Amino acid sequence: DAQAQQAAKLAAAKAALRFIEPGMVVGLGSGSTATLFIQLLGEKVQQGLDIKGIASSEDSEVLGRKLGIPITDFDHHSTIDVAVDGADEVAPGLALIKGGGGKLLREKIVASACKRFIIVADDSKLVKQLGAFPLPVEVIPMAVPLVTEKLSDLGFTPKIRQDKSGNGPYITDEGNILLDCSSSGIADPEVTAAEIRSIIGVVEHGLFLNMAERVLLAGADGSVRELTV
Ligand code: A5P
Repeated sequence: DAQAQQAAKLAAAKAALRFIEPGMVVGLGSGSTATLFIQLLGEKVQQGLDIKGIASSEDSEVLGRKLGIPITDFDHHSTIDVAVDGADEVAPGLALIKGGGGKLLREKIVASACKRFIIVADDSKLVKQLGAFPLPVEVIPMAVPLVTEKLSDLGFTPKIRQDKSGNGPYITDEGNILLDCSSSGIADPEVTAAEIRSIIGVVEHGLFLNMAERVLLAGADGSVRELTV
């Protein structure tokens, strides 16, 4: 149930704290599990831990600042020591789908710039094959019809993500549109990633391959398993 899932998310977030050391630049992820981690990290900072954060979304930046985490950026630090983020699906090889929360572009930038990318998730996210969760693809607004057609040719059923308030399409932090692409499963994520990447108008997609160093996967009983590649 929802309460057990919440406990698992918290257990995973807590387990990530041991990767954080004084002086580090820490990537702050997005979504409900990463938010729990940011809150725990904020407590440590209030107790004197000296770290800086680089945020993967406006929401996470606002939260980090509110908690007193000094926020920095790539002008000041070109690498991140550790980034902690959530995921929508975790498959063998630590292939991930991310972007359920709409923040995949900045999340991928943060992930690409960090020495260690650590995923925190409850065990409902573990799958044998990616794709039951619709793959988010971030698209330049004017290209949406063209990209929709190309993604359909690849076997996806793209749907424009709508804003929660019902005011029309969801707009990303960078002013783009998200296409949530359902499919019958992504058999070869590397091939699919390359195919999607080659479509003009696509800014980024939610397949995070060969990026995660480990996944801290928590069960409802609070036990945490560590998956590594
Ligand atoms: C945000 O865009 C996502 O990539 C999140 O990391 C992902 O959706 C997982 O979110 P939860 O921790 O809320 O499940």
